[in-house]
Amino acid sequence: MATRLLEGKKGIIFGALDSKSIAWKVAELCHAEGAEFILTNAPIALRMGTINELAEKTGAEVVACDVTVEADLNNLIDIATAKYGKLDFVLHSIGMSLNVRKKNPYTDLNYDFMHKTFDVSAMSFHRLMQALWKKDAMKEWGSILALTYIAAQRVFPDYNEMAESKALLESFARSFGYHFGKAKNVRVNTISQSPTMTTAGSGVGGFDAFYEYANKISPLGNASAEDCAKYCLSLFSDYTRMVTMQNLFHDGGFSYTGISDDVMDMFRTK
Ligand SMILES: NC(=O)c1ccc[n+]([C@@H]2O[C@H](COP(=O)([O-])OP(=O)(O)OC[C@H]3O[C@@H](n4cnc5c(N)ncnc54)[C@H](O)[C@@H]3O)[C@@H](O)[C@H]2O)c1
Repeated sequence: MATRLLEGKKGIIFGALDSKSIAWKVAELCHAEGAEFILTNAPIALRMGTINELAEKTGAEVVACDVTVEADLNNLIDIATAKYGKLDFVLHSIGMSLNVRKKNPYTDLNYDFMHKTFDVSAMSFHRLMQALWKKDAMKEWGSILALTYIAAQRVFPDYNEMAESKALLESFARSFGYHFGKAKNVRVNTISQSPTMTTAGSGVGGFDAFYEYANKISPLGNASAEDCAKYCLSLFSDYTRMVTMQNLFHDGGFSYTGISDDVMDMFRTK
């Protein structure tokens, strides 16, 4: 049941491609909780996805922005601030790897693709924050958030170069979080989410096995996209004002579990 937790808050949500996207669930919940926002995605995703359906449901304006293009980000922020004034929240929910898409093994990666992966999936977070910073677009006590995965800390062989992308992304959150905190009382965090059945998620090799394994290890099971949206909203709300520069695990307990009974049962001989 909606509590109007974000009443009056204004923001930008990146990365809603279709109804499975985590950003889609965040947008739906933000709307239910009283926030207003601009939805944005890369021009090609706007053509291929179903974002207009979401925009209609949530009363949001859609603005195209390829996060590798500085001019696109500046244009987006200008549109958002002309409409709302300074922003309360921004969600970066973006990931893409051409090496993963082409199924290139980690030991035989194409470096042009790797550049692109880091550019889209990680440098874009710095580029976004720098554009917000230079335009002084964040309201005091605002919240900037990106989504990440535990492959930044531990090895998941099929996650490939996205592991390094996420490590870089999380580091940008800490480093820019320092500057945003010190100068503007704005917080910057990453949420490390469970495997989730989305377009980006299921692009990773062996995703089904990956998903089931995490589900069996985690005492609470995998966190759904809907639950992730709830956690995102808590970080946009005024209840988490002093949380910054953190990588926050939202994974049903996966990150701190060594082994579970469910997995033990698979190997027990008696
Ligand atoms: N699905 C999972 O298992 C999982 C787990 C942990 C973290 N995450 C992270 O959650 C975030 C959202 O992914 P998702 O699972 O909702 O999948 P998704 O495929 O729905 O979202 C990824 C989004 O990135 C956008 N994007 C790609 N290139 C872009 C560009 N150049 N400019 C602007 N946008 C671009 C896509 O259009 C898409 O909307 C990603 O950062 C992902 O790594 C996902």
